[in-house]
Amino acid sequence: MTDSIKVTVVGAGTMGNGIVQTFATFGHTVTMVDVSEDALERGRAAIEKSLGRFVKKEKISQDDCDEIMSRISLSTDLANAVSASDLMIEAVFENEEVKKDIFKTADAAAPAHTILASNTSSISITRIAEATNRPEKVIGMHFMNPVPIMKLVEIIRGEKTSDETCAQTISWSEAIGKTCGVANDFPGFIANRILMPMINEAVWSLHTGVGDRESIDIVMKLGCNFPMGPLALADYIGLDICLNIMDVLQDGLKEDKYAPCPMLREMVEAGKLGVKSGVGFYEYS
Ligand code: CAA
Repeated sequence: MTDSIKVTVVGAGTMGNGIVQTFATFGHTVTMVDVSEDALERGRAAIEKSLGRFVKKEKISQDDCDEIMSRISLSTDLANAVSASDLMIEAVFENEEVKKDIFKTADAAAPAHTILASNTSSISITRIAEATNRPEKVIGMHFMNPVPIMKLVEIIRGEKTSDETCAQTISWSEAIGKTCGVANDFPGFIANRILMPMINEAVWSLHTGVGDRESIDIVMKLGCNFPMGPLALADYIGLDICLNIMDVLQDGLKEDKYAPCPMLREMVEAGKLGVKSGVGFYEYS
């Protein structure tokens, strides 16, 4: 059992609040940081809702839930939060400049021992680390959605990430019930290098009439024992995120096979983003 640590999570969205919930569940003290009180309040409400599901199933008690919530604080002041943290995990939207700004601020304010991690699903850890004076302490911690349920943390080593930082990050990940796979800093790392072309191929299959949405999903769900079909998973992840990752793969790897299916781009341009917008390959109420 690792000692309790202090964690700052930047970004109160789906991934950020899931990460906050998971660290707090395992006894760590967490500050959730975002730019507005509203975003923080939505993040807090999402954590309460998720914990409520565990209480309902009697996996945890209401007292456990209250205790977990008491370990979480909210802040709009990143520098102040990170100044007392052992680990920062950035989980904001996929914009390299925004991420670099966050890392620069965190690097200036955090104690020397603090590890600075990014939950990026595809942006180079080496480039993010260049915004800091501690590239050996910068690492990727790529969680999967839904974070409280999914067992993986994909660890990404930047060019200068030290062995010590990698070992410490794996140890902290294991202490919150996760198992790690380690990737080097290539576009899309391991998870999205493999998952996104598969999803993109499912979109091509729909686009070119290989099968309808239900058939594509049921073949992969029952035929390959996936928890959900690739089109339903794309809706769950968000079609904008899928498109963004395909663009990163194509830009970074320079191979035509990574070109996003035009149907995916058209759907994103039409605002059909999946579950979060109410419409994607399926409709959601
Ligand atoms: N909080 C708490 N509990 C949750 C939860 C949440 N946010 N989401 C799901 N659950 C729980 C449910 O309550 C349920 O618990 P029980 O088994 O105890 O009943 C369990 O998880 C299963 O949920 P459901 O019954 O609602 O539905 P399901 O069986 O279809 O599971 C799922 C839902 C866990 C999302 C499952 O479909 C699944 O594993 N899908 C694949 C998810 C996946 O591939 N994620 C990775 C996406 S890629 C990514 O995240 C990274 C990237 O860079 C794009």
